[in-house]
Amino acid sequence: MQKGKERIFAIKGEQMEIIGTTRVCGLIGNPVEHTLSPLIHNTISEKLQIPLVYVPFHVEQEGVEAAVRGAYELNVLGLNVTVPHKSAVIAHLKEIDPLAEKIGAVNTLVRVEGGYKGYNTDILGLYRAMKEADITIENQETVLLGAGGAARAAAFLLAEKGAKKVYLLNRSLEKADQLAREINDSFERDCICPMKTSEYEKLPSGKLTVIQGTSVGLYPNIHDVVIEDPEFYKHVNKAYDLIYKPAETKFMKLVRGAGGKAENGLKMLLYQGITAYEYWNRLTVPEEIIQIVYDKLEGKVRV
Ligand code: ATR
Repeated sequence: MQKGKERIFAIKGEQMEIIGTTRVCGLIGNPVEHTLSPLIHNTISEKLQIPLVYVPFHVEQEGVEAAVRGAYELNVLGLNVTVPHKSAVIAHLKEIDPLAEKIGAVNTLVRVEGGYKGYNTDILGLYRAMKEADITIENQETVLLGAGGAARAAAFLLAEKGAKKVYLLNRSLEKADQLAREINDSFERDCICPMKTSEYEKLPSGKLTVIQGTSVGLYPNIHDVVIEDPEFYKHVNKAYDLIYKPAETKFMKLVRGAGGKAENGLKMLLYQGITAYEYWNRLTVPEEIIQIVYDKLEGKVRV
């Protein structure tokens, strides 16, 4: 990539020249204005010297089909999809990855002959992040807090990767019941066990792995936590909070304070992007570049 020219695409001080062979990837969603994805993808392109730019596209609900068709016609290499279009986009795909189909949510579109193939790299990203946090899913018992959108992805991952049992704790039992039924039916085994969060004392004794998938504790409500009782945290061995802002949630503080290990959700965000980039470009992003992207993300979410 040449540097120092006038007609350039600028990335925080570094410059990428747009040339005739430059490809486009982007994000469709509503809203998209606060996304960190351009930072992830444009940093990788810049560092690997790949002529690819990534831009956000604000797309209304009724425009999803036209956006996907239009992207294909414009030779767009790939798209990410964010709320509220992760389910709606499925009807407009050429192909879909079986796990993404099971979840009913797609966040990455990879260009294929005649259209796009849909994947869920949120799940794949969470898996990579959990492995890095030394959290084993296979044959293990895990506690999952929450039954909303984020927890849903985690619950599917746990079932898919062969968790022995998942205690799915939610404030409203009805939502936990519904999600548990859906996943147990889908995988044809009773691995998800729904409970009310207030019943956490009924969890089996012994050291627990806990995934925090509620929105409680998210910036700016940094002093909130879904379970206050310090006694609970004495039983937590390893924890993964899907929240990444703040970098240390109250939940993580309580886990660490009681001697357990806790990680935040920034690596999940990182790896959903890295995986999408790898799919679009059929390459493996080198470790040192992943680290550069991670450091930039960390700087952006610091509060
Ligand atoms: P997200 O996409 O972040 O998962 P969501 O789909 O709205 O957001 O889900 C929010 C999750 O946080 C739910 O599990 C919700 O519990 P309910 O299903 O009972 O609403 C949980 N949550 C939100 N605020 C909460 C609070 N104050 N106390 C306990 N749980 C809460």
